[in-house]
Amino acid sequence: MNLKNYKKHIFVCTGSKCAPEISPDIYQKLKQKLEEKSLSKVEGGVMRSQSSCLGVCQGGPLLVVYPEAVWYDQVSEEDLDRIIDEHLVQDKPVKDLIFHKNQYSCKKPSD
Ligand code: FES
Repeated sequence: MNLKNYKKHIFVCTGSKCAPEISPDIYQKLKQKLEEKSLSKVEGGVMRSQSSCLGVCQGGPLLVVYPEAVWYDQVSEEDLDRIIDEHLVQDKPVKDLIFHKNQYSCKKPSD
């Protein structure tokens, strides 16, 4: 495994309680879109991981982006495009899609 230094890490829950009919497809689309934008496997890029459970278990598809610890729920493909372009690329979390922010995250989002 060639683990580059990345600026964001995004997790997608693909567990059985998080819209299992949609979430794996959102995860694959995330992979495809990050590759198209040359954001994966590069210095300063985006690390992508799937989880079998993030502990919320409702409102899927669920995504969480670190280091800001910003959570998104009910993510559609259109939402995913906005999260990639606005949050991952421009470093501006998508306020109208956020359902939770961890106040103890190691980096505060630039609003
Ligand atoms: S199954 Fe997705 S948060 Fe638990």
